[in-house]
Order: sequence, then structure tokens, then C-alpha cells
Amino acid sequence: MSFVDYADTIKDGDTAIVFLGHESMFPVKVQHGSKTQTKYGVIRHSSDLIGKRYGSKVTCSKGGWVFILHPTPELWTMNLPHRTQILYSTDISLITMMLELKPGSIVCESGTGSGSLSHAIIRTVAPTGHLYTVEFHQQRAEKAKEEFQEHKVEHLVTVKNQDVCKNGFGVSNVADAVFLDIPSPWEAIGHAKSALKIEGGRICSFSPCIEQVQRTCLAMEEHGFTEINTLEILLRVYNVRTISLQIPDLGKAAEDNSSTGFDSSNQSNQGSLYGILQQGTAQFKSGVPLKEMVGHTGYLTFATKSLF
Ligand SMILES: C[S@@+](CC[C@H](N)C(=O)[O-])C[C@H]1O[C@@H](n2cnc3c(N)ncnc32)[C@H](O)[C@@H]1O
Repeated sequence: MSFVDYADTIKDGDTAIVFLGHESMFPVKVQHGSKTQTKYGVIRHSSDLIGKRYGSKVTCSKGGWVFILHPTPELWTMNLPHRTQILYSTDISLITMMLELKPGSIVCESGTGSGSLSHAIIRTVAPTGHLYTVEFHQQRAEKAKEEFQEHKVEHLVTVKNQDVCKNGFGVSNVADAVFLDIPSPWEAIGHAKSALKIEGGRICSFSPCIEQVQRTCLAMEEHGFTEINTLEILLRVYNVRTISLQIPDLGKAAEDNSSTGFDSSNQSNQGSLYGILQQGTAQFKSGVPLKEMVGHTGYLTFATKSLF
């Protein structure tokens, strides 16, 4: 297993995702002789995991079962140990596209934080690209390095423990794209410009507050960036639910001229998405948005460095 290559079977040392049910999962480091407790009982790594295929249904000691999934950056984002606030897949997907990332891209990032975005960048630029990620908090930088090794992607990433606003990214004129998720991104725009290739590239800065965005846009303009564009992306999740609606009783005359379209005797209605009549009730499947609206994460400011 590696975060950039799929493997069929679970091996000693892998990071696997234990999936217990809807929105209930956690990562596990697979180790000979280890045990993992779940609410369905114990999973014994040597007999239950190692040598089994990814995607297998594993029965735990109390008789309940879980699925063991191959890790991906998206699953890692949902399950990683938080050392900082992290970026989620909705923002990451827009960042990846708007920075025009692809296999072979060279990317600079700061700060590394919990490595949520880093894993997605690494997967996108593999097998020939590289990520230079800068984190000034020593323990966070070390932990990120450790995780990249465990996930077998260390050849695709260089972690630098320094202040990006003072010392930059440690590389010049090599990057196709730069990403910033720090409190004062405007102080790093000059370093971002020198990290980007002479012929140009793309930049993105993520900030929760509009005042940070204003200062960053001004700094980008001062350094000659063009196509400065600030976006926010909001996710709306739908659940599929069976809805029951009472059919109004409009009396005999209305029944004779019925235009409801619901007819319990009509076989063709069976198995369709709607029209199943049960004692004056119409049932149908519907996509229902979640009650809680996903809130603001941050503004994404994109810009271009061009040769001319
Ligand atoms: C919000 S976290 C980044 C989260 C990351 N994008 C992720 O998805 O996991 C911000 C990180 O930037 C680091 N940081 C802040 N200012 C910095 C600077 N001037 N140079 C380097 N790292 C910095 C912090 O220590 C923190 O770990």
C-alpha cells in the first residue's frame, strides 16, 4: 500500500481505514501481533488483516463486522489526527483544479499543518512531480515527515522547518504552483513569486477573514500577479429519503376526475420512485438536504504569475 499506488492485499506496516458504518471510521497502523478494539469487538491484525484483500468484510470478536478500506487522501482527510485546523475535500478539489495540478507538477506549500492538503497534492503530482512544504512549528514538521514515510510517499515531498515569511520555500524558480494557508499570507507573496518558475505559474491563498484577503490581494497586485480572483465554495449534501405525503380527500367528484396519477392497481408504478399508494398516502423517494448548512471555511484567492 502507498497513498499513490493501489495494492490488492493488506500488509504489515500499512495504514488501513476501518469502516464501521455511515460516517464512522478510523485509521489503523497494521502491525503483526497488534489488536484494535472496535464497538463490535477486537480485530487481530495477524489473522484478520494481514494477507486479506482491501475492501474485505472482517468479523470482529463480538460477531459484528467492519470493512477494511485502502487509504486515499480523501479518507485520510476525514480520519487524520488533527494537529491544526485542516482543509477538507471540497476546498481541496477546487484548489487542485484552479492551481492546474497534474502528474509532474512542482508545488510549494505552507504551512504543512496536519498534512491534509499535502496528501492530496502528492497524489495528484505523482509519480514525477514534487511537493516542497514549509512548516515553522518543529513538532508538526517532524510528525508530517513521519506520516509521509509511513504512507510511502516520502520520495515525492520535502518538508522544510522554517518561517516561510522570512526564509521562503527554500527553492527558486522551480514551482508550477504555490499554496498558502498561514495567518499572514501577504508576507509570503514575494517568496511565492521567486519560488514560481520564470515563465510563470499559479498561486492560491486560503484565508478565513476578508481582511486577510484584502491584504493578500494588494500584495499580489504589488508583486505583479494577474487574474486575481477570490472564491468561496460551499458544499450541500443530500440524503435520499422515502417521503410519505397524505393525499387530500377532495370528495367523490374529485376522485372520479382524479389527476393525482397515483394508482395502486397499476403494476407499472411498482418499483418506480413515486406513485406507491398506501391507504391514502403517496410515498416517493426524494433527495433531502441536511438540516445543518455547511458553514464558511475560508476564501480562496487565486492569481497568475505570467512571463510578461
Ligand atoms: C491551518 S494550518 C495548515 C493546515 C493544512 N493546510 C492542512 O490541510 O492540514 C497552518 C499551519 O501553518 C503554520 N504556519 C503559520 N505561519 C507560518 C509561517 N510563517 N511559516 C511556516 N509555517 C507557518 C502553522 O504552524 C500551522 O501548522
